[in-house]
Amino acid sequence: MSTPAAASRSYTTIGVLGLGTMGAGIAEVFARHGYTVVGVEKDDDALARGRQYLEHSTTRAVKREKMTDLEQRELLGRITFTTALADVAGADLVIEAVVESLQTKKELFRELDAIVGLDTILATNTSSLSVTEISTANSRPGRVIGTHFFNPAPVQQLVEIVRTVVTEEQVLEDVTALVAELGKTPVVCGDKAGFIANTLLFGYLNHAVSMYEARYATREDIDAAMRFGCGYPMGPLALLDLIGLDTAYEILETMYRQGRDRLHAPSPILKQMVTAGWLGRKTGRGFYTYE
Ligand code: CAA
Repeated sequence: MSTPAAASRSYTTIGVLGLGTMGAGIAEVFARHGYTVVGVEKDDDALARGRQYLEHSTTRAVKREKMTDLEQRELLGRITFTTALADVAGADLVIEAVVESLQTKKELFRELDAIVGLDTILATNTSSLSVTEISTANSRPGRVIGTHFFNPAPVQQLVEIVRTVVTEEQVLEDVTALVAELGKTPVVCGDKAGFIANTLLFGYLNHAVSMYEARYATREDIDAAMRFGCGYPMGPLALLDLIGLDTAYEILETMYRQGRDRLHAPSPILKQMVTAGWLGRKTGRGFYTYE
């Protein structure tokens, strides 16, 4: 775990680009800690879905008596929902959490160039794409860094901070301090597909899919083995449903393309399920079905 140095600056406003599972979770984390959040989505439908994620997650916290109605209203009141990227103009930090497409991410970083101030830190929540390559789309690559949150972001403690060879030291220190201030555990790593956790995790997840595909054991037994034999909070197939099979497929593909071993060649059934629209919890069906 990286021990953060003192931050050289304070933050008030955080821009979050993309309010899917991860973006909405990240927005919630910052709003819970009193930050003003500007959440941006590409169109009104996506924006409504993002708002719903946030309402659902905070309502769950109210039901569990972890938050009062008033605190929920205040938290949601700190978030501006918008489809205009220009609304992040005043942000101290912008975190991009859109789909795992290099082209889409680079396009956003290019557009941000003309919108944000010189002092703004730009972060990407990519799970496996090159932070260095994303940063080259912007005229200030030294102020670009990776902040990789884990799903569900409001719950998981870890944030991987990914520094590129050009990330300014002060930016690294500031973001590490900010993550610690959010009550998260920062770890710092270099810019290699999968960073630390996904490099270790995804070979295992893919192996579980192959085992299921080969009908070696049922989904329930594969998951039970890892939960009750190894103490994991979830079995691998249930975890894939949580991550999203489309996201998992993209991560495996990227890791495989970057020359890793066969363990990361996505199991064929994963692609078939993605094509069929079985993306896991978010579509109500993956390895399991959900209400
Ligand atoms: N959003 C917000 N809060 C959530 C949540 C969500 N989606 N899901 C669960 N929670 C909260 C609950 O409200 C509850 O909070 P309190 O303790 O404050 O009441 C707490 O989490 C525990 O939830 P539950 O009791 O409902 O269920 P659980 O104890 O089985 O925990 C879990 C659920 C947190 C998901 C747990 O099973 C877990 O940690 N699973 C492993 C998740 C994991 O490995 N994530 C990493 C995936 S890899 C990744 O994200 C990287 C990538 O690039 C893809």
